[in-house]
Amino acid sequence: MMCSLWRGSLLTLTSSLNRRVFQCCRQLGRSYNIASCMPEAVAFQGVSDHSGLYKFSVNESDRFWGAVARQRLSWISPFHTVQNCDFSQGKIKWFEGGKLNVSVNCLDRHVQTCPERVALIWERDEPGTEVKITYRQLLELTCRLGNLLKRQGVRRGDCVTIYMPPCPLAVASMLACARIGAAHNVVFAGFSSEALADRIRDAQSSTVITVNQGVRGGKVVDLKRTVDQAVQNCPSVQQVLVAMRTENTVAMTDRDVPLEEEMMKEDVVCEPVAMDSEDVLFLLYTSGSTGKPKGLVHTQAGYLLYTSLTHRYVFNYHDGDVFGCVADIGWITGHSYIVYGPLCNGGTTVLFESTPVYPNPGRYWEMVERLGINQFYGAPTAIRLLLKYGDEWVQNYNRSSLKTLGSVGEPINTEAWEWYHRVVGDGRCPVVDTWWQTETGGICIAPRPSDPEAEIVPGMAMRPFYGIKPALLDTEVVTGDALCISQAWPGMARTIHNHHQRFTETYFHPYPGFFFTGDGAHRSKEGYYQIVGRLDDVINVSGHRLGTAELEDVVIYLMVEEDVLAQQLREMVSRSIAKYACPDFIQVVRCLPKTRSGKIMRRVLRKVVERNTDELGDLSTLDDPDSVHEVISGHRRLC
Ligand code: WT7
Repeated sequence: MMCSLWRGSLLTLTSSLNRRVFQCCRQLGRSYNIASCMPEAVAFQGVSDHSGLYKFSVNESDRFWGAVARQRLSWISPFHTVQNCDFSQGKIKWFEGGKLNVSVNCLDRHVQTCPERVALIWERDEPGTEVKITYRQLLELTCRLGNLLKRQGVRRGDCVTIYMPPCPLAVASMLACARIGAAHNVVFAGFSSEALADRIRDAQSSTVITVNQGVRGGKVVDLKRTVDQAVQNCPSVQQVLVAMRTENTVAMTDRDVPLEEEMMKEDVVCEPVAMDSEDVLFLLYTSGSTGKPKGLVHTQAGYLLYTSLTHRYVFNYHDGDVFGCVADIGWITGHSYIVYGPLCNGGTTVLFESTPVYPNPGRYWEMVERLGINQFYGAPTAIRLLLKYGDEWVQNYNRSSLKTLGSVGEPINTEAWEWYHRVVGDGRCPVVDTWWQTETGGICIAPRPSDPEAEIVPGMAMRPFYGIKPALLDTEVVTGDALCISQAWPGMARTIHNHHQRFTETYFHPYPGFFFTGDGAHRSKEGYYQIVGRLDDVINVSGHRLGTAELEDVVIYLMVEEDVLAQQLREMVSRSIAKYACPDFIQVVRCLPKTRSGKIMRRVLRKVVERNTDELGDLSTLDDPDSVHEVISGHRRLC
């Protein structure tokens, strides 16, 4: 009911927009044309509309990506081969022969055209204390840091671990690595010392960059102390560069280098290294379902091109817009849509240091008003949280700057989608539910990957991006809907650091000839994709497959007394899905074991139910370790 109302009003809005575009083109004396949207499309014969452009991008993928790469990146020397990929070996190479420097693409070329444009807005924990950094300033910081890293012995091919909250020096550290040819390994500054040590050891870093303390939600966090604990067990580490986020002094050892003090001694010019397209840009660890976290490897040219193109088209980002992605830089979302995509496009990007509820649940929207944010990109888990606090927290602030709202990380349930659109966006901003993964480097499925006026269906990622060819394949469980991608794209991960075999086994062996995402999906009769969640989250009940996301979408509405809850939940599931879908067993807990990025660790729940608590697997990304103990003891009590 809600959905169909929705579609009706969106359609009315689009047709009036179409008319306006048409009138405006007539006044200019030219017809509406694809080239005005994507300049390189002029060269693609026969392409006259967005669906034609999409088809071209997948059918003529060499010509498409070749033209886009030449148009959008600055090359030191041109590439000779667009792609050289073979899924059977997990071989993925793009733009071979080409040389470029990622930091030049993100900084120098914008400094030439608009040095005083704001590159970063650092939205510090305390509202109203934001700091703006121009492209000229960011280039200076990056060069000084690059020179300092070189002075400290960091060489091309080394891997520097960065353990910092979102802040300009963290971005400058990433770009400084790119400038001198080192790889970075950003570790979320909420991870424990053990999780950090694991990642430093696996990456074999000799250098760690951190801050004395972090500040989040009004609380001071001793990040340097966590690094001290971690490096005790990391023989590779020779030095720790320490920036000062707070005024408080912290204990420094011989190994520690005061970052600001030392970088101020360095020159503001640092010669960029000519990197090969396929040299490593960064490692980023993501939790595997068992065993050790995997260090996914992303390389230079393809990754940069893919993140900048998706940033431009999925969010309809234009010059002068302020892009507000509230993720942490420690996640792929932060790498791709706080740092590389926006900066490659010469954009203004926000670094959000705080939480959605500090100092109150109006924080996001107060920030939107104060900074004039045009695109807001956040996670369903935060939207669901804020929704519970009521509309007033949103309506207190002027959100007229907003043009596009984005969602990422997990399926966005209907209620949250509807609230995001109706309340946050005042019903006038498209909501783009973007599906992708650390492995994919950038957004692969999103409602408006090209046509800024296309229809949007609530709660659906819908349309593949340029060059992305999804395939739904049979799963071993029942009927077919394992989401795979059938040809290579420039943004995809190249390997797992030091474990290429694990890479091919995980992503290319399950469905030979395809990249396997691990997610389940449906395709509607219109050809739109709906992601239903991880396939390992699927429950099989008497041959019926149920995605846990589907069940959660139903039960999320209810928050009542524990004793009436179970019965009501069963009734709701039975009404909304089917009798067979009713859970046999309902356990109420204070909170579920979640990763710090908000994903429920379902494999842990499964082990608890199977009474196999000795083999819980990798728990390093767990947000609140007590949650697991609570689930275990509650389960023992009940069963
Ligand atoms: C997994 C990837 C992508 C950056 C943040 C997470 C789930 C992500 C959606 C979405 C449904 C989604 C998938 C995917 N996911 N976006 N829009 N709808 N599910 O990166 O930690 O690598 O997680 O997140 O299950 O496989 P990640």
